[in-house]
Amino acid sequence: MSFLWTTSDMMAAMHGRPMGNLPEGITGISIDSRSLGNGEAFFAIKGDRVDGHDYAGVAMANGAALLVVSEAKLPALGRLNAPMIVVDDVLDAMVRLGCAARDRSAAKIIAVTGSVGKTTTKEMLRHVLEPSGRVHASVASFNNHWGVPLTLSRMPETTDFGIFEIGMNHADEIRPLVQMVRPHVAIITTIAAAHLGNFKDLGEIAAAKAEIMEGLVDDGHLILNRDNDQFDILEKAAVSQGVAHVHSFGSSAKADFRMVEFTGGSEGAVLWAVIDGKTLEIQLGAPGRHIADNALAVIGAASLVGADMDAALAALETLQPEKGRGARHRLSIGSGSFTLIDESYNANPASMRAAIALLRDAEVSGEGRRIAVLGDMLEMGEFAGRIHAELSVPLVEAGIRDVWLAGPEMAHLRDALPADIHIEYRETVDDLKDVALSSVAAGDVVMIKSSKGTGCGRIVSALLDAHPVFSGAA
Ligand SMILES: Nc1ncnc2c1ncn2[C@@H]1O[C@H](COP(=O)(O)OP(=O)(O)O)[C@@H](O)[C@H]1O
Ligand SMILES: [Mg+2]
Repeated sequence: MSFLWTTSDMMAAMHGRPMGNLPEGITGISIDSRSLGNGEAFFAIKGDRVDGHDYAGVAMANGAALLVVSEAKLPALGRLNAPMIVVDDVLDAMVRLGCAARDRSAAKIIAVTGSVGKTTTKEMLRHVLEPSGRVHASVASFNNHWGVPLTLSRMPETTDFGIFEIGMNHADEIRPLVQMVRPHVAIITTIAAAHLGNFKDLGEIAAAKAEIMEGLVDDGHLILNRDNDQFDILEKAAVSQGVAHVHSFGSSAKADFRMVEFTGGSEGAVLWAVIDGKTLEIQLGAPGRHIADNALAVIGAASLVGADMDAALAALETLQPEKGRGARHRLSIGSGSFTLIDESYNANPASMRAAIALLRDAEVSGEGRRIAVLGDMLEMGEFAGRIHAELSVPLVEAGIRDVWLAGPEMAHLRDALPADIHIEYRETVDDLKDVALSSVAAGDVVMIKSSKGTGCGRIVSALLDAHPVFSGAA
């Protein structure tokens, strides 16, 4: 049996105190008693809503090998007879274990931050590096003060490539996280208006993202987006931080990982790129210029960590758009079908524009329409009205004629769109859902996007429930 951690190593790293009959080791780490696997350690983290200590019994019933609990909560656990490691603070202990995982690892470590595209880039890295070795990567968007140490402490000793998503809503959030991860390669995907309510302007967002440089190893590599307006600020920060190697990607002639041509299709794309002086023709299995941008950074990172590049490039061909991030469904309606593009995971101005471009490039059939179904982008602070209204520009440029909107902020877009566009506006997502259910027709392509909290995912679910997958001939 191979353990993720032996109990003694774990206890030493966490400065924990044993209680009860502890096993020799654990097979994994969980902070959720519902999804915990047999033989895993349950860390009783205190979250915003629940305290893991209240679920210690459930975790044991579900097969936990041991519990990690805080000294202060011991009296409350009184009657629970379970193997435990007792620590001062469970989250702090997980951070210490994460740092021990990093210390014992010989893996090449890549960290990804940016205003959009972190998860997409992280999953793409996982996909392209898998042929080259054992990959360990964050689950979902586990990118915050508990997601990063959890991912780190879950990293097996035998990992060849560790890939970490690092996120932030505020300044000073990335710094402690990247100091745990200590990447060999750090990617900043792009800087755009996200969580703008917490910042003065894009420059402040760039400065906060620049914290990722502070955790790079001494001889580390930084990969920046040369096409982004904030490139100069980030490059300057890299120089003053003394970053050893700064690389850039993009379509700019000065980019190190350079896009020379991009041919978008409805289901995929072809990217011509120059990497290390070689011109490559790269088939991408997922459509969208933004996917190609992410792919450039991914290829650059793969080359820096010594991946098998032929295998990495081949893997890009089998890329699939992720759920909520461009996943497509061909659904039945009457005797025909329509296409649903699920972009419902999240939204900000940059990803809205990327998704509108996906809709522009999608193929409609017969009388079909390209329909943008959009809900509010949240956390835009005082800029919200203007930022929503400005989406009329990419919509008009893309020739989208049908725009269905929900939410108070989207009223600004409704008012900004030209009169000849067919608009459906509802105050709530659930009312717009009814419009979608009754108005979608054969041949349409429907792209659905909003911030997660706005909940346009409910429109996606309703359409998926109401319409079976289309299995007829194209
Ligand atoms: N490089 C990019 N530029 C603009 N939009 C992007 C980019 N990469 C992904 N997106 C869009 O952003 C949305 C969120 O992507 P995701 O990878 O989950 O970002 P994050 O993890 O940073 O929140 C996706 O639905 C997609 O529309
Ligand atoms: Mg994410």
